[in-house]
Amino acid sequence: MRTIGKLIVAGVFVFGVLQVVRPSIPVKPATADLETPPDVKHVLEKDCYSCHSDQLRLAWFDQIVPAYWLVRHDILIAREHLNFSTLGSKPPAVQKAMLYEAVNMIQLGAMPLPSFLKLHPDAKVTPEELSTLKEYLAPWTPALSPIGDAQQRNNGKTDAGPFIVSPGIPARASLEAVNPEFNGFPFDPAFESWKPISTTDRGDNNTFRFILGNDVAVKAAQTGNTSPWPDGARFAKIAWQQQPGPDGLVYPGKFVQVELMVKDAQRYKDTEGWGRWRGMDLTPYGKDAHFVNECTGCHRPLYGDDYVYTLPISPAKVDREQVVNNAAALPANLPYQPLSWSAITMCVDPKTRTMATLYGNDEAMRAALAGQAAPAGAVLALVTWVQRDDPHWFGARIPSAPQSVEFVQVAAAGQTSSYRRFAGTGLIEDYGAASAAPQRTSFVLGLTPASLP
Ligand code: HEC
Ligand code: HEC
Repeated sequence: MRTIGKLIVAGVFVFGVLQVVRPSIPVKPATADLETPPDVKHVLEKDCYSCHSDQLRLAWFDQIVPAYWLVRHDILIAREHLNFSTLGSKPPAVQKAMLYEAVNMIQLGAMPLPSFLKLHPDAKVTPEELSTLKEYLAPWTPALSPIGDAQQRNNGKTDAGPFIVSPGIPARASLEAVNPEFNGFPFDPAFESWKPISTTDRGDNNTFRFILGNDVAVKAAQTGNTSPWPDGARFAKIAWQQQPGPDGLVYPGKFVQVELMVKDAQRYKDTEGWGRWRGMDLTPYGKDAHFVNECTGCHRPLYGDDYVYTLPISPAKVDREQVVNNAAALPANLPYQPLSWSAITMCVDPKTRTMATLYGNDEAMRAALAGQAAPAGAVLALVTWVQRDDPHWFGARIPSAPQSVEFVQVAAAGQTSSYRRFAGTGLIEDYGAASAAPQRTSFVLGLTPASLP
């Protein structure tokens, strides 16, 4: 009994002494606090500022060691990632990107940190508060006006009609010469021959993306074998700036970057089973191997979907929703299955909120990569979908129900290329489309391949 009494006294003493071991949490007056309307500010202050600002907002129980040590650790890390007290000094594009990421981290349940919410339930973002933030960011596609700088398309190539395939595409970069990432992860020059599994229209940063998969990934997507993705699955994500055209449609403009992901549960177990590569203009990104923390940090909330954001377009029926995009799949009755071909370019009609991807069979794709017009016999397919909001990323739009599929089979010189259109529910052949055929054929044949370095 006496020993227990002594132990309690000693415990209380040690606890008391430890309270003095209190490394400080720096507090500063906000130099460049993010400027937002008061209702938005209120949400951020209430739910995020305890960690993501230079202010000190601790509950009384956070002041007690060892809770204090844990909270301090979170605050210091959180500020390094995102500090609303200084975010106001960053360029507008960076502020915008950070706010979209903030909304998405809330929507995905990653922020505020779930461990923090257990003790601070008041910091939970309510659905109303989330709507307040979203409404502030929406409408997320700014009014589009044709950008005067036609040079932005095709790596600075200026040609009279920017949408006409012209033979003068600049010499391609040698993909074999691209360096590995700082983590030793090699660049994979084969990505260009992988097949598209989806496309996104990112209104939050005005880019278009192709998400390509190698054979293993495509097969897994088609069979719904995506939870988890099999070892050997590879993805590439290619991003271009959006470039409004004179016809009111928006096209891929300047190439921005390529990102790669490879599944190997054993080899990459430290980064949740995925190896990663990112390169702006095909130069490895980051300063050192820590670059990968940026990737895993943002992909982590998708742990339930094996850290993959994309919903591949696939007819596979899976039990869980939001793992594949069934709505956008094409019916089997079409004369060709263009989704198994390569993607050449895409465009979005902001007025009708539709997105279209141009696919080509092997002959068409070979010509596109070589910067040549599609040869006789090549088949091109323009698939147009209604857009819907990406359930995984506020700010992105993805394909929903297909609206039409147009096929153009290129004829020999001097002859008319054949045009067939399938539209409506079930994509039935539209024989009434003949009158529009010449105009649509020249539109499809005139689309410029999205440029790669
Ligand atoms: C308990 C402290 C805490 C609170 C409260 C908190 N966060 Fe975080 N946040 C963190 C930490 C720690 C990280 C770094 C996580 C990591 O990558 O390990 C982080 C990272 C982030 C990131 C990633 C930034 C980047 O680019 O790396 C975003 C965005 C974010 N938080 C948004 C929010 C928002 C929005 C709120 C309020 C709704 C919030 N956080 C509340 C601790 C917090
Ligand atoms: C700010 C959040 C964020 C960060 C940071 C991020 N990603 Fe992603 N990533 C996304 C989103 C959202 C998508 C879905 C496609 C799209 O709309 O861009 C995605 C998709 C991908 C894909 C296609 C497969 C998939 O998961 O959907 C690859 C490959 C990829 N990212 C690689 C990377 C690499 C490599 C890095 C680090 C250099 C990285 N990502 C960092 C948000 C992020």
